Amino acid sequence: MAEFVKKAAVIGGGVIGGGWVARLMTAGYDVSVFDPHPQAEKYINDVIARNEAAMLRLWPGQTTGQRGKVSYAKTIGEAVDGAVLVQESVPERLDLKQTIHQEIGEAITDAAIIGSSTSGLLPSDIQRMMPHADRMMVAHPYNPVYLLPVVEIVGGAKTSADAIDTAMKLYTDIGMKPVHIAKEIDAFVGDRLLEAMWRESLWLVKEGVATAGTIDDIVRNGLGMRFAQMGQFMTYRLGGGEGGFRHFLEQFEPSLKWPWTKLMDVPEWTDELVNDIVSQSDDHTGGLSVGELETIRDNNLVDFLKVLRRNNWGAGTALKNPADMNAQQPEQMDATANPLITWQGNVHEDWADYNNHMTEFRYLEVFSMATDKLLFGCGAGPAYVKEGFSFYTVETHIRHVDEIAIGEPIHVETRLINHDGKKLHLYHDMYGGGDNRLLATGEHMLLHVDMNAGRAAPMPDHISTAFAQIADAQKDLPAPDAAGAAIGMKRK
Ligand SMILES: NC(=O)c1ccc[n+]([C@@H]2O[C@H](COP(=O)([O-])OP(=O)(O)OC[C@H]3O[C@@H](n4cnc5c(N)ncnc54)[C@H](O)[C@@H]3O)[C@@H](O)[C@H]2O)c1
Repeated sequence: MAEFVKKAAVIGGGVIGGGWVARLMTAGYDVSVFDPHPQAEKYINDVIARNEAAMLRLWPGQTTGQRGKVSYAKTIGEAVDGAVLVQESVPERLDLKQTIHQEIGEAITDAAIIGSSTSGLLPSDIQRMMPHADRMMVAHPYNPVYLLPVVEIVGGAKTSADAIDTAMKLYTDIGMKPVHIAKEIDAFVGDRLLEAMWRESLWLVKEGVATAGTIDDIVRNGLGMRFAQMGQFMTYRLGGGEGGFRHFLEQFEPSLKWPWTKLMDVPEWTDELVNDIVSQSDDHTGGLSVGELETIRDNNLVDFLKVLRRNNWGAGTALKNPADMNAQQPEQMDATANPLITWQGNVHEDWADYNNHMTEFRYLEVFSMATDKLLFGCGAGPAYVKEGFSFYTVETHIRHVDEIAIGEPIHVETRLINHDGKKLHLYHDMYGGGDNRLLATGEHMLLHVDMNAGRAAPMPDHISTAFAQIADAQKDLPAPDAAGAAIGMKRK
């Protein structure tokens, strides 16, 4: 199995490095982190938890067990050993980045891609002292890295065209939208656009034209919503109406010569201006903490992405289902474990019924995720489905034994009741709550299908052997009480 595991290294695990760890794990990479900060592991675990919550909303059918693993290295050399991608995300100082990249270059293999998350430093400067500079480039992401797809790829003087091609494919494969910037330039493209808006915003606050809150309201109720799905040029193209883009350009060309911006007239950074911005921003955010704002941001981004995915538009087109990204990395499952836990998580807020309990169809969804975990673990995962074979559920019986509230922990234990060459009989027990009580049982019959032939077909040996192993590990357990029970009312 080891040959399938993809390994990445993240050097510097702060806001951006933590985001890279989470994104790469979702894509099935095992990630080794080097960050000397004593709190780095705790911080990264928080980002991973944030990402898990977002992924559960974005891809409700996926089990977290499919993710890659994170580990912490004591040196850069240990972190990058065997990595196909090294992503540097240390603080924005050229001397620090040059030293770190020199160390990375001395330790990597020829095959690795080295990306720097720098917001604006030139790759030619960063790669100046390092070996393997041909593999190094800027790969500038946006925060939060685990949700925003774009990454600006900027090569330096020594970067090879082959490394750029490999990186474009690699970042696409992890669900991102890599954009190759044609020329090396300070701050690349995205941050130059942001910088223009930032300078203008500071000037407007300084002159008392608008507060921080007013400026944010104008952006988030108007131009920001347009940009999120149309961008700069497509938005303005529509501004020309039926007259088209040429008409728009002719109409607004004169205003470019009017004093509509103060881009190079940067206000002096006085205590008064800093205090104004901070207090206006405090008023505007209404006492919400950074953590609360991050949750609001992530929930909104997930819902935007869902809409864009449904409309096959903009950022929605870059998204990749974690199950597809992990297709090469078989699910690891200890078939002999007793109990065999096939799903665990918390009752999500979207799963509430009008009594604020987990609603009934979500029970089937959780049982279905548990079944997938078992199937993937026995060799019938996405790669097997791509070969044209799968398991179809032909019968289900769910018993609802007890209620469970939103946010409470739940898990599923799975029993393999029977299997033959074509059929699989499963029984799931769902437990949850602080007292770990039985909540529901799910009994399912599945049929192994040759999808091209459109009919049931014998399972291959490796899958029946895996089922036999589970059956053997469970052979001494008593049969579940309700297995094979039918729905009915006792006759009086
Ligand atoms: N914050 C953003 O919005 C953003 C967006 C895009 C790109 N970036 C870029 O990403 C990079 C990191 O920024 P950040 O916001 O994550 O900063 P950060 O301060 O949150 O994280 C930097 C991390 O690097 C670690 N570090 C410091 N020295 C190190 C060393 N010698 N070896 C390994 N780790 C070391 C720190 O402990 C810290 O955890 C910068 O180049 C920044 O310009 C930031």
